[in-house]
Amino acid sequence: MADIERTYIMIKPDAVRDRKVGEIITRIERTGLTIERLDMATLDADTVREHYAHLADKPFFADLVAFMTSGPVVKMIVSGLGAIGKMRTIMGATNPLDAAPGTIRGDFAIDVNSNIIHGSDGPDTAAIEIRRFFGEDA
Ligand code: RTP
Ligand code: MG
Repeated sequence: MADIERTYIMIKPDAVRDRKVGEIITRIERTGLTIERLDMATLDADTVREHYAHLADKPFFADLVAFMTSGPVVKMIVSGLGAIGKMRTIMGATNPLDAAPGTIRGDFAIDVNSNIIHGSDGPDTAAIEIRRFFGEDA
């Protein structure tokens, strides 16, 4: 039996610009998971550098920071049974070229540099990211 989990989900600036927010939220709700918190914000570069610190030595890091600060994102806390894995499943593979049809990235993205959505990759990162984006009391 899966645990009840909380995960940090972020609809990235490309999807907000392309007016995909409603369709993506509909897909999240269809899973039966719960959207506990939801907010929009334009991220500052320091927050993005911290969030993607594990990629700081990659050649695409500067472009990733520029992309993630290029416009507003939708920040969410999503909760429910197996929420972390379930969200990664409906998001699809990191590279949209590998993401299956029917997944969010498979249906809405073609470029790994602007791949529509972020979801925490495990319980430890989920807890850190929820605090980073919703504060210590979240
Ligand atoms: P995310 O953190 O955004 O949910 O994505 P992820 O776990 O599926 O993948 P991760 O390895 O954490 O990569 C974070 C983001 O960096 C960009 N990326 N670009 N050009 C590239 O080869 C490349 N690889 C990764 C993507 O925007 C990815 O979502
Ligand atoms: Mg990641």
